[in-house]
Amino acid sequence: MSVQLTREQLLTIAREYGTPVYVYHAEKIKAQFQKLTSAFSILDTKIFYACKALTNIQILRYVKSLGCNIDCSSFNEVQLALHAGFDPRQILYTSNGISFSEIQDAVKAGVHINIDSLSNLEKFGQAYGHDYPVGIRLRPNIMAGGNMKIATGHDRSKFGIPVEQHREILNLVQQYQLHVRTLHLHSGSDIKEPEVFVKGIEILFDLIPHFPELEVLDLGGGFKVPYSSEEKETPLPELAHQLKSAFDLHPLANGKSLQIWFEPGKFLVSECGYLLVSVNVLKDNTKEVFAGVNSGLNHLIRPTLYDAYHRIENLSNPDGVMKPFTVTGYICETDTFATDRLLNQVREGDVLAIYNAGAYGFEMSSNYNSRLKPAEVLVEGGMSRLIRRAEQFEDLLRFQENL
Ligand code: LLP
Repeated sequence: MSVQLTREQLLTIAREYGTPVYVYHAEKIKAQFQKLTSAFSILDTKIFYACKALTNIQILRYVKSLGCNIDCSSFNEVQLALHAGFDPRQILYTSNGISFSEIQDAVKAGVHINIDSLSNLEKFGQAYGHDYPVGIRLRPNIMAGGNMKIATGHDRSKFGIPVEQHREILNLVQQYQLHVRTLHLHSGSDIKEPEVFVKGIEILFDLIPHFPELEVLDLGGGFKVPYSSEEKETPLPELAHQLKSAFDLHPLANGKSLQIWFEPGKFLVSECGYLLVSVNVLKDNTKEVFAGVNSGLNHLIRPTLYDAYHRIENLSNPDGVMKPFTVTGYICETDTFATDRLLNQVREGDVLAIYNAGAYGFEMSSNYNSRLKPAEVLVEGGMSRLIRRAEQFEDLLRFQENL
């Protein structure tokens, strides 16, 4: 059964809270989490929500209430996770390109850290040696996902330590007697094919014998969710079976078994989110009709940054004749949400819903053009509540005056 908010619910929220507004549907997050736990029940798996997708503290608390763990990409995210009530043992810090001081902070906080450079691994060895178990983030040299801008595992990527440098890694492990608890890789986002994850694990299998204290293979995030009706999500049950077969083909020495960790961001929160906007102006430029809305790349940058497709619906004129509209923002840049998109006749004042806005939507928003960030609303058990107020003009001056 598809879990989603109805047109009426969304319109009521637009009326009550105004637009633009981000709306999140708690039960959709729950349904996605259950899909993960059910598909991976045939393996020893732990799920860590990649909170870089959406860090609203109420969302973090909700995710925690489901029994999910959390993956952080900065020490500030670690602090948010602690603030939301996660136990340090539920927190993973997958760093990239960070200063060693952030790693020291993470050690003090007692969270598990995946280190992504030889330089930081060496500093870690010097500071902690065998005393604090550590994870190593590898670059698998796999090109994955549909979009180069969000691919992270390929052989020109800045992420992870290239697998071909395994000798250098092993030298450090030996020199500092490092206790390597996890091997990590993350190949990209929007990965539909289970084979990509299997390829990743195959690469790790070769390395496992070198790390006798290893407990976990962390395969990162990147599961695909559909952004349009033609797209499909990653077939998780098939992925689980393929991973199980891969393990069966590679029995580990001494009957040892390893846990698998995943770090999904989009899979958990993309589809739960809606960005509701209102149409400010219609403009017929003779080649296309622009529907200019009260939002822009400052609120949802994905279409501009990645040419990402987001489904759009005219909530307030559902019976209007279908016509092509180019939906644009109000920013002084070309911030097109959709080009020549078939929508029910759009009129000034109509409320449009932009779908799949939960992941990397609000989280990547900015104050460009001195525009204000919108409110966030959570719907749970049919009730809506404000979980972040909209910014006001005073917020723009907050960090600049009376210094
Ligand atoms: N783990 C690591 C180490 C990551 O770098 C990421 C995403 C994830 C997990 C979660 O990936 P997901 O399951 O959300 O695909 N802003 C882009 C996506 C960039 C993702 C960066 N890292 C977008 O809006 O498509």
